[in-house]
Amino acid sequence: MENFLIGAATAAHQVEGNNLHSDYWVMEHLKHSDFAEPSGDAVDHYNRYEQDIRLLAQAGCNAYRFSIEWARIEPREGFFDEAEIEHYRQVLLCCRENGLTPVVTLQHFSSPAWLIAKGGWGKRHVITAFVRYAGKIAAELGDLIPYICTINEANMGLQLNKIAADMMKAGKKQEGGVQVGQNMGLDLKAIVLGMFEKGKAFHCSPFAVNTFLMPRSEKKETIVMLAHQAAVGAIRAINPKIRVGLTMSLFDYQALPGGEAAAARLWQEDFGWYLPFILEDDFLGVQNYSRKIVDASGAREPAEGAPVTQMGYEDYPASIGHVLRKVAQQFPGELLVTENGISTDDDARRCRFIREAFAGVLAAKKDGVPVSGYLHWSLLDNFEWQAGYCKTFGLIAVDRNTQTRFPKQSLQVLGELNKDGI
Ligand code: BGC
Repeated sequence: MENFLIGAATAAHQVEGNNLHSDYWVMEHLKHSDFAEPSGDAVDHYNRYEQDIRLLAQAGCNAYRFSIEWARIEPREGFFDEAEIEHYRQVLLCCRENGLTPVVTLQHFSSPAWLIAKGGWGKRHVITAFVRYAGKIAAELGDLIPYICTINEANMGLQLNKIAADMMKAGKKQEGGVQVGQNMGLDLKAIVLGMFEKGKAFHCSPFAVNTFLMPRSEKKETIVMLAHQAAVGAIRAINPKIRVGLTMSLFDYQALPGGEAAAARLWQEDFGWYLPFILEDDFLGVQNYSRKIVDASGAREPAEGAPVTQMGYEDYPASIGHVLRKVAQQFPGELLVTENGISTDDDARRCRFIREAFAGVLAAKKDGVPVSGYLHWSLLDNFEWQAGYCKTFGLIAVDRNTQTRFPKQSLQVLGELNKDGI
């Protein structure tokens, strides 16, 4: 199958290190931080991208998804750092030299700290600011970028809102409730103190801090989607050759008898609600890690004895194929798997996961689902947001004391999917 993308994904803040002007850097260094540990040097991908890209290409892969860090490009509002634009030009050229198709994300959770001081993702100001940044990237680097994902997991706000409401009701912490590393070990006092510290650090009211990865009302989520739509328009006006879309975090909801209505409601909240905003996009980035079994009262925890990953999700590689099929019933365009993976210290398990997940993707393709690639999460063991460095999703392990890379067998397994001919 020609032109099918096979590769791996990263996000700038999780791998680059020293993302000094970002909101995450601020939050990680508060006294009552929500983070298990700060990102620090991460895995120094900022300086070692050539080695990492080469390892991916040598394994046989043909695509690399990474993100451009808005806080580096625009460290102060309205000031674009040309040296940082040049840095990402070099990363893009490095992909080209190594035969990798780049898939570029403009916003992967982290934002410039100044944006949060201006109301962040809760105020319409973000629409103008995001469009300016997106336009700058399209104008300066667009000729090297075939795919742009404007916003990573644009559907997180409502999912986090739902979880926050459930936690308030039931008073229980939901490890694995969303597909991202949240630190669930904090007590209420630390959360409240942290809130006030954030307000002070971002020079706004503690109740007006709107970073990206936060519970959001439908009203605020609409602002996020309008920012996406405006960015799509700006990018197309500058360079119509770029394929533009966003990515979504989607679970494979499986209804037990009696759970059909609840499963349909969950899918509508996570996916259907967003659909009107993305129907004109060139593609959709699909991100999935597991399934959830749903009964009449909602999504259940993984069954007793079910294999679970370090993240607390069920180890269930078939879910990506199922989600692609479901999405294709409602979204008419190209689908690209922009993330799928497993957090485990057992690489043999990851190898099996990749083979089984990919078989599901291919089966969906054979049945007519317009999927054009599979990008595994993640190229490197990295900073799993609030959870810190304890989760290992990587195809390459890193000794963070020396920043030495140790490619795992799973990197070969992924590359062979491409070499084997699809
Ligand atoms: C995010 C990644 C994250 C991964 C694993 C996705 O939600 O896009 O940044 O590391 O899932 O949790």
